[in-house]
Amino acid sequence: FSKLRGRGVWRYSPAIAGNYKKIVSISEGGTPLIRSRENSEVYYKFEGANPTGSFKDRGMTVAISSAVSEGYKIVVAASTGNTAASAAAYSARAGLKIYLVLPKDKVAIGKLAQSILYGATILEVEGSFDVGMKAVMRLYKDVGIVYPLNSFNPWRLEGQKTIAYEITEEIGVPDYVFVPVGNAGNIYAIWKGFTELRDAGVIDRVPRMVGVQAEGASPIAKAILNNQDTPQFVENPETVATAIRIGKPVNWKKAMKAIKESQGTAIYVSDNEIMEAQRELARKEGIGAEPASVASFAGYKKALEHGLVDRTSKTVMILTGHALKDPDSMIKSSARRIIVNPDHLENIILGDLNVSG
Ligand code: F0G
Repeated sequence: FSKLRGRGVWRYSPAIAGNYKKIVSISEGGTPLIRSRENSEVYYKFEGANPTGSFKDRGMTVAISSAVSEGYKIVVAASTGNTAASAAAYSARAGLKIYLVLPKDKVAIGKLAQSILYGATILEVEGSFDVGMKAVMRLYKDVGIVYPLNSFNPWRLEGQKTIAYEITEEIGVPDYVFVPVGNAGNIYAIWKGFTELRDAGVIDRVPRMVGVQAEGASPIAKAILNNQDTPQFVENPETVATAIRIGKPVNWKKAMKAIKESQGTAIYVSDNEIMEAQRELARKEGIGAEPASVASFAGYKKALEHGLVDRTSKTVMILTGHALKDPDSMIKSSARRIIVNPDHLENIILGDLNVSG
């Protein structure tokens, strides 16, 4: 690590495969690793601090650099929203034309707004992300001139693995890493990052990878928990965490490999547990993360309850996206909102003081 220069994803360029004629970057990566206020062994990797507010930017800088280097002019991605926002931004910077295939009415408003802002053409499909994913796969196979930006694209994962490098550089190897799982690329990418460091002799072991899914979209978690080799895919996935509302994760094999080989596990959490975790993280730690992101925190809480981890384990939760991505989910959350007479604000505060003694 001591020989590396700069900050962010391209700091690790010696370890990023591929030849790039041009690098398209918006200063992604180098995100904060925030120590928990309550437990000094616990950290949050806040990927919301990336340029478009999610970890997708790490993969997108590499994938778009590769698309440009290979001479593509048109790119395409299916997305639950964050890949879309990120792909739109990096395509804009690279001067590429971009088409996004999104599940109609199921993309959080912040992500949709970003995709519109960056000038993408938005193609909406009825049904889940999986319908769009299948359409993009077919398009890529049948019409070679479009470059696919989904996580079956290996360059995406090359960028995302730098999460592992950053964690190791800052605190060494954790015992556990909790990752929200949707299309299942990120957990594999992070695990790959750790295994490369181990194989290079930088670290002597890899952390246990814990995948967390939303209950209504949890084929991988259920397969792991039931000891099945192949997941039973979910036809109509449903969860408040729209980013991971995916029934047939493209990278399921890779994710299961990462979980098994690291001797990790998987967990699923309910929508209530997710929303409760979002509030707790915000109100106790001051960190705002979108619902899919806080699945990692909800999963950690559940793992503590079930004795799968203990408080002394060095644990990192990957908070994959910023709270502002999905304002609707936060506004529905419980809050104190009081209509007041502007001349008498003190009545409220003094009233509170009396109540609390
Ligand atoms: N967290 C957030 C905030 C996401 O947006 C995603 C995936 C994940 C976790 C899961 O990552 O797919 O690598 O397992 N979002 C994709 C998208 C599917 O289209 O934005 P994964």
